[in-house]
Amino acid sequence: MQPLTASTSFSALQSHLASAKNWHLLDLFAQDSQRFADMSLKTGDLLLDYSKNLITAETLQLLLNLAHERGVEEQREAMFAGAKINTTENRAVLHTALRAPRDARLLLDGQDVIADVHAVLDQMRAFTQRVRSGQWRGHTGAAITDIVNIGIGGSDLGPRTVCQALRPFAQPGLQLHFVSNVDGCDLDAVLFRCNPETTLFIIASKTFTTLETMMNAHSARDWLLQHGCTEAALTRHFVALSTNTAAVKAFGIAPENMFPFWDWVGGRYSVWSAIGLSVALAVGFDHFAEFLQGAHTMDQHFRSAPLESNMPVLLALVGIWNRNFLGCSSLSIAPYLQDLRLLPAFLQQLDMESNGKSVARDGAALETASGPLVWGQAGTNGQHAYFQLLHQGTDVIPVDFIAALKPQHKLPGHHAALLANCFAQSEALMRGKSTEEVRSEMQAQGIDPAQIAALAPHRTFAGNRPSNTILMDALTPKTLGTLIALYEHKVFVQGVIWGVNSFDQWGVELGKVLAQKIQSELLSAARPQQHDSSTNGLVAIAKTAL
Ligand code: F6P
Repeated sequence: MQPLTASTSFSALQSHLASAKNWHLLDLFAQDSQRFADMSLKTGDLLLDYSKNLITAETLQLLLNLAHERGVEEQREAMFAGAKINTTENRAVLHTALRAPRDARLLLDGQDVIADVHAVLDQMRAFTQRVRSGQWRGHTGAAITDIVNIGIGGSDLGPRTVCQALRPFAQPGLQLHFVSNVDGCDLDAVLFRCNPETTLFIIASKTFTTLETMMNAHSARDWLLQHGCTEAALTRHFVALSTNTAAVKAFGIAPENMFPFWDWVGGRYSVWSAIGLSVALAVGFDHFAEFLQGAHTMDQHFRSAPLESNMPVLLALVGIWNRNFLGCSSLSIAPYLQDLRLLPAFLQQLDMESNGKSVARDGAALETASGPLVWGQAGTNGQHAYFQLLHQGTDVIPVDFIAALKPQHKLPGHHAALLANCFAQSEALMRGKSTEEVRSEMQAQGIDPAQIAALAPHRTFAGNRPSNTILMDALTPKTLGTLIALYEHKVFVQGVIWGVNSFDQWGVELGKVLAQKIQSELLSAARPQQHDSSTNGLVAIAKTAL
């Protein structure tokens, strides 16, 4: 495919950039009283305000031209239709099928994937009811009180983020725990809080070969056996979520306790599949179904809305402008919702594992930057940690502010304070504070001129820093589904524009292979020799401690 830099619309945007260099957001707002109305849109339960970006109607038109030229519409249709757009793994990309209604139909290699999806959803519903009602019993006949999801990456971050976000919908008395790290402290800390008679382990792994997950799963198994559970009764304490039936069987989990999914579900796109079982257990299957329905609403919008009024497309295009033209190498995610505090970590995997690529789909080296660094923290906490750099640092870092209009608690006053801070931060990033303003403020306070001259540069903010605000009515299963699907499709659109395969992750493989080799060296008597002197030296020191 043609490199991005060779496209006509990319060149047009580069020429346009010359004028953008002189813009200030405050002027753009002053010149156009309709700016918010024109540069915000609502779909489902979400409102996106992208007006605080350094763009004009012309910028937007040029970006839309770029999206057309790069084939966003064709690629979008190919994804929804089940084409094998994950070319390096020869796989379809069908997480959208996981939230399609029962009466939809989609054939992949002659198989109706929607029927398969709903068969597993039915299995999940039945199981969820048995556990939540106390019908499912542990090896001594006691009902389940604790559920431990063992997984990593998408098999952890997805369900962990969603369970935490939907905390107010959870069933009291059923504790959910998540273990991901191979660091034994992770599992140890959870086992310390659990009773082996009443704990159910969910082993969540697409491949069922991931080192961290398998090691934690085996340690959990040993813990049960050491605490009075027989081999035969293990079946009451383990279920598996996987695509690898043979490995699940080899581990000793009964086929009826396996919830399958398919190779066309990427790990970071898997929370909608059986991987969401912990969510369904925590909040009930009906709420899980609402979560799927929320995502489906966004899928329909993304698939059918014209690009100029398509929320994921607009969010993606603003990101392309910031990344490839304004040179912003990072994106900060600021959910002003404590229950959404894991969203930055979830989006970090979604975005960085998808678009952290340096070659195009045809293998040619990219000539432009691709995926940005994605990071963040819940507001208002972030304000008292790193927002200083957002306001006055030498890098311009766009921010996505995410907030809900209604709180999920009844404490008076808190929610207005939270929203006020959220809106104030995007205003401050945009507005800044001129040296003139600083000087006159200090003069009014009677500060002496020498001190004003010394302090004014430190108290000046350039402003003109871009942000988006995403508002939802309330953080519910449905709005959460819509929000996550918004970001999935945003990442997809950006991947299409950069021309990368957003659905593989070859970059994580080398470290896994090297770790296996080093692990065997750490545990054997032989001196490590096959590495550089740094790695050999570190391994040798560690061997003395193990
Ligand atoms: O190593 C990266 C990765 O493959 C992620 O893409 C994935 O979400 C995670 O590991 C876990 O993989 P699995 O579900 O197969 O254990």
